[in-house]
Order: sequence, then C-alpha cells, then structure tokens
Amino acid sequence: MQVEELLKPFPIKEFHPFPRAMLGPGAWELLGPEAKKLGFRKILVMTSGLRGSDTVAKIVGSLRYHGLDVVVYDQVESNPKDYNVMDAVALYQENQCDSFISIGGGSSHDACKGARISVAHDGRSVNEFEGFNKSENPKNPPHIAVSTTAGTGSETSWAYVITDTTTDPDNPHKYVAFDDAAVATLAVDDPTLYYDCPVDYTAQCGFDVLAHASEPYVSRLNFPPSLGNALYAIKLTADNLRQATWNPQDLPGREGMMYAQYIAAQAFNSGGLGIIHSISHAVSAFYDTHHGLNNAIALPRVWAFNMPVAYRRFAEIAGAMGVDTHGMTDVQAAEAALAAAIRLLRDVGIPEKFTDVTQDSYAKNRLGQGPTKFYENAPVIHGNDADVDRITNHVLGDACTPGNAKECTFATVRPVVDHCLNGDLDDLLS
Ligand SMILES: [Fe+2]
Repeated sequence: MQVEELLKPFPIKEFHPFPRAMLGPGAWELLGPEAKKLGFRKILVMTSGLRGSDTVAKIVGSLRYHGLDVVVYDQVESNPKDYNVMDAVALYQENQCDSFISIGGGSSHDACKGARISVAHDGRSVNEFEGFNKSENPKNPPHIAVSTTAGTGSETSWAYVITDTTTDPDNPHKYVAFDDAAVATLAVDDPTLYYDCPVDYTAQCGFDVLAHASEPYVSRLNFPPSLGNALYAIKLTADNLRQATWNPQDLPGREGMMYAQYIAAQAFNSGGLGIIHSISHAVSAFYDTHHGLNNAIALPRVWAFNMPVAYRRFAEIAGAMGVDTHGMTDVQAAEAALAAAIRLLRDVGIPEKFTDVTQDSYAKNRLGQGPTKFYENAPVIHGNDADVDRITNHVLGDACTPGNAKECTFATVRPVVDHCLNGDLDDLLS
C-alpha cells in the first residue's frame, strides 16, 4: 500500500469539540453548584449503580443538599444496551426532567449520551442514530459526566457505544456512534472517585487508555494535533498503571491515570481509533466481556499487525513507555514497545487470550466480590472457527476499522482475531 493511498480516505481532518472540564481530587464536590450554574433543576442521574461503593449515594445526596431534584436510573448494564437507553428516556420524560448527570465509566456516559439524543428527537430509538453526526437536532438537554474509572474518556469525547439488541439475538450488533451533539456539557474527573474501583477493572481500564492513545498515534487519519496527547498518555499509563492497580488508594497513581485517560480520549476524539477497538466491540457484542479487558487482549496482537506500516511511530511509543531506545533501529525499538506492553499486561494480571477469560476473570462487582447478576450466566468463549469468522466479520463492519494503521480485509484480520482468541503472547516476542 502506497502512502498516497493510505492518505486518500482522510484528505481533510476534522477537529471535534471537547466539553469544559473540572479535573482533580475533590472535583465531585463542585457538582451541585456547577449544575445550578448550568440551570439544572430536575436531573436524571444515569448510572450502573456502582453497587458496593457509596459513590452514587454521596453524589445524589450532595445534589439534593444543593436544592436540586434528582431522579435516578441505576440499571445501566456493562456494554450498555439500547433498552437501557430507552428505559432512561421514558423515565426522563415521565418525570419531566430538564438535565442529565451520568456517574460511572463508559457504559453510564454512553447510555446517557444516547438518551440525550433520543430525548432531543421526541424519544426516537437510539439505534436510529448509529453512524457519524446523525443528530438532526443538536439541542440536547445539558449533561454533566462524572467518571469513576480511568479508562473510558467518554466524558470528554464525541463517541458513544451501544449494543443493538433488536437484531438477531445470536448475532448482536454493537456499534459506535460519533456525534458532535453527544459531547457532554461538563466533564468531571476526580481521582478520589477511583479508589473503590477494583484491581481487575483498574488494570483493564488502563489498557483502554493505552488503546485510546496508541490507536490515534498510528492511525491512518494521522492527525498531528492528537499526537502529543497520545504519546504523553502512553507515558502516563506506563508510569502509573501498576501503582493505580496494586495500590488503589494511592493518589499520585490514580491522578496519573486520570490525566492519562482524559488526554488519551482527546487524542482519539479527532485522531481516530483502529481495530483494537473493533475487535473489542465484536467480542463484547457476542460475550458481553469488559471493554478494557477486550482491548488489553487485542492490543499486543494489533500492535504486531500494524507495526510494519508504522515502525517509527511504534519506536516513539517505546520511548514513551520507558524503553531506552538509544542505539536501536526503529524495528528493534518497535519490538521493544510490544514487549513493554506485554510486560505491563502481565504485571497487572490481565488474562492473555480470550479463551483464558473465565467467569472468575471478570465476574466481579466493584469490590471484587462474587459474580454480578449480569455475568452469572456469561457464556464460555469458544475460540472455534465459527467464532473467529463471526468476530472477524463484525470487526470489518466497525466504524473504527477504516482508521486502522494497516488496511484490513477478512484474510488479513482473521489471523489477528484467531490469535486474540487462541494464541500465545510469547509468539509475538522475537
Ligand atoms: Fe475504548
């Protein structure tokens, strides 16, 4: 593939907006005054409930203390479903709310973004807005997004991801919508809200950050304003993820990951993603596994796949990850970046392939105790030929795939998917 051909699909770059943000320890306590300044009176809070922590109760209590009316929808599922969005829309309309606050990770924010767009279109199905800038009415109700994980970036991005359950139940469809109208009004990132996030989610969310940063850094969009943020987010993740994972109440580690996730999302907001995310969306669609876990497993394989078209960029990633690349060729440094990513994945205890993912790997509530209701009956990941084929086909239809560094066809992507399901990470190390 010639360089001109790689650039052809993206001749004009577009910079997408970010919301205003409050960042830092204690930021959540400003929610009530900020909501009042924005004119909120009756708020629909959307969340998964964050059961096992008192985060939702303390935030809702604080909003009420400031004289705000609050209605709570706390049934957002992981990999949020279209029916979560539409149930929230019905609750919003029934209670004549005028604003939204989402509390949680990407699932809560994404469901909330979809709900705002549906409300602005008289309750039309969220699935009608799959694609790029499908909103016909940009005037959504205002929205404050409060993050409780260092991963999503949804609080500052124009993307939201929904599972469409109206399709064939054996082949559910998970899609990404990108919409400037979906951007929140205010983002709140407070690292003290991450303290209750359990070890496995912290580690997995950290790899969502690494995917958000590394995909735009090598994307075919090649968007220069994203590159600085992307590279620094990689450095922050390499420097802080171990500490945030294994010492959960360590403020510097949590704060480092907070900034990593925030600027990584701003990198991909206009710089694009790639097939780490496409594979992740496909596996979530079929197995409902955690987005960050999926990204972590896909990341080393996709880096190896993309490396031949972007050795120099991967060599720079190696430097950001703390590798001393002095005296190395770009190829050697790129390979060292891959080794550093695998080392990080192993250091934070993430399963190495999808067929290693058992219910014990992700069936935890926020305190890491016991299976959640949702995952009690999670299917076992097969990894057989039919599974590899259906995941590959889903990947090829994903909105993130055209931005991937290397061109994707069924023949080139299928082995990558197969390796994610069944391969050994040591195969990738030379
Ligand atoms: Fe992501």
